Formats: sequence, structure tokens, C-alpha cells
Amino acid sequence: MSEREQWSSKVGFILAAAGSAIGLGAIWKFPYIAGQNGGGAFFLIFILFTILLGLPLLLAEFVIGRTAQDNAVNSYKKIAPGTKWHWVGILGMITSFVLLSFYGVIGGWILIYLFKAITGQLNGLSSEQYTAVFNETIADPLLSIVFQLIFMLFTIIVVSRGIQKGIESASRIMMPALFVLFIILVIRAVTLAGASEGIQFILKPDFSKVTSQTLLDAMGQSFFTLSVGVSVMVTYSSYLPKNQSLPHAAISIVSMNIFIILLAGLAIFPAVFAFHLEPNAGPVLLFNVLPTVFSQLPFGMLFFIAFLVLFLFAALTSAFSLLEIIVSVISNGKPEQRLKWSWILGLAIFALGVPSALSFGILAEVKIFGKTIFDFADYTVSNVLLPFGALLISIFVPLKMKRSLLYSELKKGNWLKKGLFEAWYITIRYVAPPLIVLVMMDVLGIW
Ligand code: PHE
Repeated sequence: MSEREQWSSKVGFILAAAGSAIGLGAIWKFPYIAGQNGGGAFFLIFILFTILLGLPLLLAEFVIGRTAQDNAVNSYKKIAPGTKWHWVGILGMITSFVLLSFYGVIGGWILIYLFKAITGQLNGLSSEQYTAVFNETIADPLLSIVFQLIFMLFTIIVVSRGIQKGIESASRIMMPALFVLFIILVIRAVTLAGASEGIQFILKPDFSKVTSQTLLDAMGQSFFTLSVGVSVMVTYSSYLPKNQSLPHAAISIVSMNIFIILLAGLAIFPAVFAFHLEPNAGPVLLFNVLPTVFSQLPFGMLFFIAFLVLFLFAALTSAFSLLEIIVSVISNGKPEQRLKWSWILGLAIFALGVPSALSFGILAEVKIFGKTIFDFADYTVSNVLLPFGALLISIFVPLKMKRSLLYSELKKGNWLKKGLFEAWYITIRYVAPPLIVLVMMDVLGIW
């Protein structure tokens, strides 16, 4: 069998793992979920969950992947042979499949906007007109499906070529560029007349809005943005050389992610209030707000196009990781199988996503448990499948991996202090499982 591919450097791995993490979750999903949950309090709870659960779980996935050095299913088989634990990996694949199906829809929206911006169709509109244009666009069945397909084709082509060439090199330039552009955007947004209400909305917690649903949304959001619970990070860390520090990588990724989420919040909400838009507009929020903010900047359309390109890239690097985990299991490390399975699985995921795409137009009236198809898919992934996957991982690690082995794996790269290790171990073993169960049960009304 051929030698396993490895990341060419630690920076390459961090960028790729951060590329998986930073995506639609931070930039598109966070603002609208926060908007629906009252803003500041949600943000605070989200950060708490990210530090208390997301970070330890990210580290747990890293440890599994690098110890086993195999794909999302075989890693569990290697660590716990003869058990059913590899079902955690299979569950991760199923979750990734569904997640990518609706992820591609939003990826398509970015492409539509890019197309419209480049062809000058978005020049000089008022904020109501932007909203109207966008709502019309996503209701158009052909347009949304065609662009969803284009997004998926990009994903398929890159994943079919293998990780090294596909993902690593481009991340080096695009991620820092995204940060810079976001900072410009935030500066413009917070200096708009009437922005202060929006800044308060996202930074000043109002706990009267917090319900058990808020807690579940915040927990699901923290897993979603960190790509935790589906064994994507198991797969990615399996390509990482042994001498790199996992805790250092995990902390870098979490910090970048929180930073970009803060930037997204500070770019969106000041503008929402300045332009009298609705913070709880749902999935369309970002798309309706951003063009208006950009139109307030000199050379606004150029900045908007640059932003869309980087946003697209952020979404694609996450999409790659979702398809990668499935393809790497099904093709079982055989390079000659990669091309075929990338196409078969990628197109199947596209097909599954079509009803989600149509749920903003001709299928808008079709409801499952009171939600549109898109919302139902998103809710099931974020609030049921990801937390469930995360729960299983937090049980698996202390149960099936020796404490001394965990310590020596996490200590590599000479970064981790013993005390931090203890804190991580206690959290994974005693805090994470009951907390996840409590939050999930609370929403179901079980206790
Ligand atoms: N973290 C990605 C985002 O925020 C989504 C994702 C979830 C990717 C799970 C991989 C695995 O956009």
C-alpha cells in the first residue's frame, strides 16, 4: 500500500483544519442564529460552550486521528478493535453527507451573488431593493439549483485530486485576506450612523431571551463552527506528522474561529440596526445586509466582489473537508478509487440538497415538524446529529484510550503543561457527556 499522505508543514495543517472550521458556520450561520436568539446572551453562551465543549472535543478528535493515523472509520477500529465504536465514524459520514447537501445550497447563493455583482446587477440599489432581489433570486428554482451544482462541482474536483495540492496551498493566502477584508468591513459597519444599537445587541447580553432552545442552538453552533462531532478532524489530524503539538493547533483554530465570529457579528448587526432591518430574518440575513454595507464604502462593489470570493473560499474549504471524510473512508486510502468516489458521492450529495434549495421557493410550503426542508436538515444536523456525535466521541476517548497514552500524544511538540492536560481530561470525561445530554434533553422536555 502506498505511504500515507502528510501535510507538508504544521502551518499547512492548521490552515486546512481552520479552513474546515471557518466557513458558513461563522460567517453566515452565526449571525442569523444569534439574531434569532437575542444577540449578546447567545454570543456569550456560544463562547462558553466553545471553550468548555468545542475545544476539548476538537482536541479529542485530533488525538484519535493522530494516534490511529487512519480514516474516520478505521481509526475507531484500530483503537477499539472488535467493538462497534467505528459506528461513530459512520455516523459522522452520514452527518457530513446531510450537512454538505444543504451547505452546497448556501455555497450556491454566494456564487449567484458573485455573478450578479460582477455583471453589475447589484450596483446602486437601496437596502429594500437588495432584499427584494435576493429573495427573488433564491426563490428561482433553476438559478439556485444550477449554482448549487457549480459549488458542488468545485468541491468534487478539488477533493478528487487529493488533499495536498487541493487544499493546503490556497489556504495560505485566502484566510489572512479574509481577515483583513472583514476588519475593513467592521470599521465601516461600526461607524455607520445608528450603529451603536447593533453593537450593543451583539455585545450586551440580555438573559431574558435565553431559553433551553437558546442553549441547544449555542451548543450546536459551537460544534458546527469547529467541525466537531463528525470525525472530520479525526481524518485531518491523521495526516499530521507526529512531532507537532495538537493542543497548540486546537487553540489556534478556536481563537481564529472566535475572532472571525466576532468580526462577523460586528459587521452585520450594526448595519442591521442602522438600516432598520430585522435581526431575526433567518438564513437570508447576511445576504440581505452585506450588500448595503458594502454600498456605503468607496469602491464598494469591488470590495464586495473581493469579499464574496474570500467567503466562497471559506465555504469551499469547509465543503472539501466534508466530502474528504466520506471519500477517504469509501475509497479506503486507495488513490485510484478517489476520483470515482468523489464524483459519485459528490453528485449524490448534490441531489439530496436539491429539495433544500427549492425550499426557499416552490417547496416553501412543504414543512417537516413545522420547518421547511432546509431548516429541518440544518436543525437535525446542528442540534441532533452533531451533539450526538460529539457525545459519543467524549465517551469513547476516556473509555478506550489509556490516560498515559493520551498524555504522551498530546505532549508531543512540547507545548502542553500537565495541568492543562488534567483539565482537558476531566472535562472530556466528566463534564462533556453529562452537559451534552442535559442540553439535549432539556429541549426535548425530558426533564
Ligand atoms: N465548520 C464548518 C463551518 O462552519 C462546517 C463543518 C461542520 C465542516 C462539520 C465540517 C464538519 O462552516
